[in-house]
Amino acid sequence: MENLMEKIISLAKRRGFVYPGSDIYGGLAGTYDYGPLGVALKNNVKESWRKKFVSSRSDMYEVDAAIIMNPKVWEVSGHVGGFSDPLVECTKCKRRFREDTLKEKGKCDECGSPTGEARQFNMMFATQIGAVEDSSAKVYLRPETAQGIFVNFKNIVDSFHPKLPFGMAQIGKAFRNEITPRDFIFRVREFEQMEIEYFVRAADWEKYFEYFKAEMLAWMEEIGLDMGKVHELNVADADLAHYSKRTTDFEFEYPFGQKELYGLAYRTDFDLKNHGLEYVDDLPAQAGEAKIVPHIIEPSLGVDRTILALLCSAYAEDEKDGEVRSYLKFAPHMAPVVCAVSPLLKNKPELVDKARIVYGMMKAEFGRVMWDDNGNIGKRYRRQDEIGTPWCIVVDFDTLEDDTVTVRDRDSGSQERIHINQLIQYVQEKI
Ligand code: GAP
Repeated sequence: MENLMEKIISLAKRRGFVYPGSDIYGGLAGTYDYGPLGVALKNNVKESWRKKFVSSRSDMYEVDAAIIMNPKVWEVSGHVGGFSDPLVECTKCKRRFREDTLKEKGKCDECGSPTGEARQFNMMFATQIGAVEDSSAKVYLRPETAQGIFVNFKNIVDSFHPKLPFGMAQIGKAFRNEITPRDFIFRVREFEQMEIEYFVRAADWEKYFEYFKAEMLAWMEEIGLDMGKVHELNVADADLAHYSKRTTDFEFEYPFGQKELYGLAYRTDFDLKNHGLEYVDDLPAQAGEAKIVPHIIEPSLGVDRTILALLCSAYAEDEKDGEVRSYLKFAPHMAPVVCAVSPLLKNKPELVDKARIVYGMMKAEFGRVMWDDNGNIGKRYRRQDEIGTPWCIVVDFDTLEDDTVTVRDRDSGSQERIHINQLIQYVQEKI
């Protein structure tokens, strides 16, 4: 679809999904703010991930670790030494770029002049902790949530005595001083990750790598990503992160190209070994107990890239009543608003009163329910279509007679009459 990205960015801002960060001050590159519908969509994504990977399982332990950690963590993890991107500067206009994202190697994207030598630019945001401004006070905003898991490995083992294999999970913010943030919420400087570190015996890593690959694909399908646009890429050895021995990226065909959506990495025993952590294994096959360093499979998913991939998957246009309409065909369980409730006419108190009762009933059951009495009914449908609301419920004069309402389906535009007593069940069965 032509200009898909512009259409999505404009819809996201107009309808309250995603706004540019600090907009009234001209913005701040690489930052975005989520509005009410964006927050609702993110919550649905996170809850769905949590349900599949944490709460429905008995081998997962969720943590919520501090963003600011002891700086030794980042020395030991290899991020102080190795978490960098190649930075080049234009010899003329002095603009800076990430070398591997230049349209033409050695040439400035802005003015076409030659770029200088590449140097490694560390992407961690540094700040000071406490009142003393010397090097001992330097701390970092975490560039991945994973390390918050590793520093709690011993705590979880001591508190819960889990048997291998088991996993730890975390949802939280991560920060990267990206040289060239771009493509809306695809590459930003502050984002959210949903990460699992799954601890296994060394001999089992391939089995669990394949297992999580399948689980990730199943979840992507479940949330309604366009699976025809999802591709697996086995990352070449030369491009692997410093901690990984094997990585499969899941790429998505975004309007600006096929780019990384999620990563699945085999981190070996790199992290636990470097942090000096071990595990007492009492595998029945061996005589007694043995201290081992578990190996790690890491499914790492970005929330913001999920939101963008969902918007790209859901955006659709068709013709209704001689007009082009744009709508978001979210899977009903992911839609920020499950249903909207309206009185046919807002100046008829008997309709408004009845509609308020229906609204209250649906709101108490589903939460994600909107009251909408602005403009005529056609305008309300368009507005709800644009934010991806699967059903519009309208209270009209027949409702006053027989307690039935009109339920209009977002995708087909078709309408059916449902008794108010059956409404909750009608929606429940579909989400
Ligand atoms: N712990 C492993 C790790 O952080 P990564 O491939 O660097 O691996 C994992 O990041 C995921 O985090 C990515 O697949 C992507 O979904 C998300 N992500 C990374 N950098 C991002 C950025 N600058 N903006 C938005 N999302 C990002």
